Amino acid sequence: TGGDVAVKVVAAIDQGTTSTRCVLFDHAGRMVSVAQHEHRQHYPQPGWVEHDALEIWRNVERVVPEALRSAGLAVADVAAIGIANQRETAVVWDRRTGEPAHPAITWQDTRTAPLVAELNAGPTAALFEEVCGLSPAGYFAAPRLRWLLDRVPGLQERAEAGDVLFGTMESWLIWKLTGGPIGGVHVTDVTNASRTMLMDIDRLAWDDRLLAALDIPRALLPEIRPNVAVYAECTAAAPGVPIGGAFGDQQAALFGQTCFAEGEAKFTYGTGSFLLLNTGTQRPTPSNGLLPTVAYAIGEEAPTYAVEGSIAMTGSLVQWFRDSLEMIRSAPEIETLARSVADNGGCYIVPAFSGLYAPRWQPDARGIIVGLTSFVTKGHLARAVLEATGWQTAEVVDAMTAVAPVPIQRLKVDGGMTANHLLMQFVADVLDVPVERPLVLESVSLGAAYAAGLAVGYWPDLEVLRNNWHRAARWEPAMPDDLRRRERENWERAVERTYDWVR
Ligand code: G3P
Repeated sequence: TGGDVAVKVVAAIDQGTTSTRCVLFDHAGRMVSVAQHEHRQHYPQPGWVEHDALEIWRNVERVVPEALRSAGLAVADVAAIGIANQRETAVVWDRRTGEPAHPAITWQDTRTAPLVAELNAGPTAALFEEVCGLSPAGYFAAPRLRWLLDRVPGLQERAEAGDVLFGTMESWLIWKLTGGPIGGVHVTDVTNASRTMLMDIDRLAWDDRLLAALDIPRALLPEIRPNVAVYAECTAAAPGVPIGGAFGDQQAALFGQTCFAEGEAKFTYGTGSFLLLNTGTQRPTPSNGLLPTVAYAIGEEAPTYAVEGSIAMTGSLVQWFRDSLEMIRSAPEIETLARSVADNGGCYIVPAFSGLYAPRWQPDARGIIVGLTSFVTKGHLARAVLEATGWQTAEVVDAMTAVAPVPIQRLKVDGGMTANHLLMQFVADVLDVPVERPLVLESVSLGAAYAAGLAVGYWPDLEVLRNNWHRAARWEPAMPDDLRRRERENWERAVERTYDWVR
């Protein structure tokens, strides 16, 4: 079995869009305990979404001891810590004080749209796609960094002088965990770096031409490391425990679902939802609105790649339904409410709150509710909220099927929303393929734990991890073909009405 038998668990920190949790896993990959805290979402203007990086750090400091306490364990029982995080959220902080220069600008934030439009019209658009695999889009981190350097007084100069550091969430947290500003290891991993628009996706290194195109000083960028590697030891939150790896959360989920072979895929339902398909050591070409990305790199081995279909808004639509419309008190209540009616009553909601991501990529789309009549109740709206996730899933799976070597014959799902049976049945219905969920819903955390555990020898190899995967639920498609076709047409007509709303 490998590793030190006296050591009981591996810890994962999952720093997500809405909350931060610490999950402890045992050698069989079972969850031992979990602690979680939400952080505030700041919406200073329509389309802007910010987080307080210090609040998130304080949550990390709380969840680690809380998870240990509830399992009756001590720091000495933790073999390693792995980190998974919301990707593309940008933070810049002072190297000497540790103070963030500005609130973190999150991946759902649309403020960089004008800058991105300029980039796409300019001479370097093709270079981005060739080198980092991504066409410029407001989804990625580098335009946010450019925005910060432009808008925070004096920041460009401080960056050039090496006084400030840039990172996505894992980078910020690793720096804090390792003692920043006294000490403080400034690193990122290949998966998070692959979402900046600054990394050469073949060489896995920052690219000078892309840095020049955005006038980004190299001095503020973290060092790029593999996903499975000991970065350093924690001096805070879990003093003495090695950090054995980091992962963008969606790549972590692919790893946690043990999709290690080419052609294996998973769909994770969180704030947004993301389909990733392992494409092996072959760098995928961008097509059908899908993104080539790094899946994982183990130590110095050649990286494994993936194609990704990203959906901006799924769980966050439920959250909006709860917090902004106050239609329900808790997220799980949406299932009860949706079950109070037989169907959507003719109503469709398209959550293009941050534009539309894969496969349509419409940055100027905005959300819409259509088909309203006096017949429609909040039960129908609840259905429409859930169905929006189903149809967005279908569009991304169709795009993926067109490029996948073998058709997707079953969909492996995970994430919080997969606890919703009505939704999972709807997904199976609209895809017309079975949907399967593993025992551990928290594939993001599990993937981060696997990386860290592999790095320190707690788990010996990928085969052992594969054997930890157990199916817990399966939904069989049951929707008549003509109904599926009709509903899909209605959904598509609704989506088209969201286009070009922003002028
Ligand atoms: O790309 C954004 C993604 O990493 C966010 O994931 O789970 O926080 O919605 P999640």
